[in-house]
Amino acid sequence: MTFSTLSKTALIALMVGASFASTTVSAQSGKQKRFAESQYRHDNMEHVKYALANIVQILKGEASHEGHLPKLAAIMASSASMAKATFEKDTRGMSGHTEAKDAIWENWADFSSKMDTFEADTAALAKVAETGDMGQFGAAFQKATGNCKSCHDKYKD
Ligand code: HEC
Repeated sequence: MTFSTLSKTALIALMVGASFASTTVSAQSGKQKRFAESQYRHDNMEHVKYALANIVQILKGEASHEGHLPKLAAIMASSASMAKATFEKDTRGMSGHTEAKDAIWENWADFSSKMDTFEADTAALAKVAETGDMGQFGAAFQKATGNCKSCHDKYKD
């Protein structure tokens, strides 16, 4: 694996990293306590974020743990495979903090299909990571991380 072939992936990674830096700031301003379901689904998403952040560090050359890429991709896939279930309970109107919009349960079929794509794309990423083919990893990573913004823009405050 050579990092010179990774420039495109690294660029995407930087963009993804930058977009998450800003969401982290907004999350910190929500001081109100979360209700249990909100906390649980939030923490599951955080696992995805942390695994993604470590992949970004590796792609940027800030961490030299290339051998961890398959495991980190597997964490993303594992958490993504649990994500839909964490939203199945309609929690509209519950008191406490959440960034989940009512639109989720108003458009469940659409949200649900977005979650299915998220699960499939991260599973594909984990599979590619196992092969060590960094050319394909870049494309699969871009596809998997494209799910975050497309869902958050519509369904997350
Ligand atoms: C199909 C929808 C969907 C997809 C796909 C999705 N998320 Fe989320 N995510 C949400 C929702 C909704 C919340 C808000 C949950 C709450 O507060 O109850 C959330 C919350 C989060 C949070 C916690 C709040 C914050 O902004 O810090 C993080 C981190 C996060 N997601 C990361 C990711 C990452 C990384 C990906 C992609 C690799 C991703 N999500 C994909 C719907 C999604």
